[in-house]
Amino acid sequence: MLRQVILAASRSGSMRRLVENAPVSKQVVHRFVPGASVDDAVRASRELIGSGRLVTLDHLGEDTTDKAMAQATVDAYVTLLNALGDLTQDGQAEVSVKLSAVGQTIDEKLALDNARVICDKAASRRTTVTLDMEDHTTTDSTLGILRELRQDFPGTGAVVQAYLHRTEADCKDLAYAGSRVRLCKGAYKEPSSVAYQGKEDVDASYVRCLEVLMTGDGYPMVATHDPAMITAAKRLGRTRGTYEFQMLYGIRPTEQQKLADEGETMRVYVPYGDEYYGYFMRRLAERPANVAFFLRSLASRK
Ligand code: FDA
Repeated sequence: MLRQVILAASRSGSMRRLVENAPVSKQVVHRFVPGASVDDAVRASRELIGSGRLVTLDHLGEDTTDKAMAQATVDAYVTLLNALGDLTQDGQAEVSVKLSAVGQTIDEKLALDNARVICDKAASRRTTVTLDMEDHTTTDSTLGILRELRQDFPGTGAVVQAYLHRTEADCKDLAYAGSRVRLCKGAYKEPSSVAYQGKEDVDASYVRCLEVLMTGDGYPMVATHDPAMITAAKRLGRTRGTYEFQMLYGIRPTEQQKLADEGETMRVYVPYGDEYYGYFMRRLAERPANVAFFLRSLASRK
């Protein structure tokens, strides 16, 4: 229930103004976002890579309705990929892109062209792009754009969300050689007509999808903080290096380091930038304790 309310608020303009102007928001947000600038993103990446983890960077922003803003997002990714320097070599640092930030809501062709510019730049820096997955109204469009991009950039990563009824079938389609697929549970407010609503059903779907991807020919990217899902992935006994674990910046960092130290490939999703509102609200929705943390920090300022 709380999750549904917070996810609804994540799309509300007035709630956005309230949270962004709250006296301690920025400090609280820093738990999940290392900073606003490219330098902050590069610094966080260098530290994580130095500790044996890999990174995928997200320039925050979504639901762009303006061509100039979509272009600004493309420019930001190009600047980032240049600024990462040697960190992009062999895919140690890659980027994650939301198609809605590069024009998907304006025109699919615009989003494809813009994503192509980012993929081209990433390829010239010897790294890859993963297309984040947004709400279910965009799934077909995003997978369509992925197919187009993979013709020229076969390393482009897909994301699938276990809470959607369709995802086990999507995993079967995507489990082919060379196909990088990130499996996550899903972070948006979705109706029961398309998505499982309860944790048990979502977890059961996650395990089914995991089995498809881990026994298939692609490269699974197991994106979860859930110890039960991590154990399920390990039990499938796939050779290390032919898949990776992924977690979000600031969430379960000790477990991230433990997996990396065990010899697992561990990639951390690092968001940066000013447009943190939607991302931050989805993190609050995932865990009631995060809401309490946010409220406590407000109260302690009074
Ligand atoms: P679950 O939510 O069941 O949490 C399991 C445990 O993990 C919790 O008990 C808690 O200990 C810890 N935990 C989880 N979330 C936490 C939080 N916010 N703060 C503190 N602790 C937390 N979604 C999407 O729809 N599209 C996408 O493209 C992506 N991309 C993506 C990339 C990567 C690398 C990750 C890790 C996740 C995503 N997600 C995503 C988000 C994903 O769908 C999901 O919402 C979160 O990962 C939370 O789900 P868990 O699998 O962690 O399990």
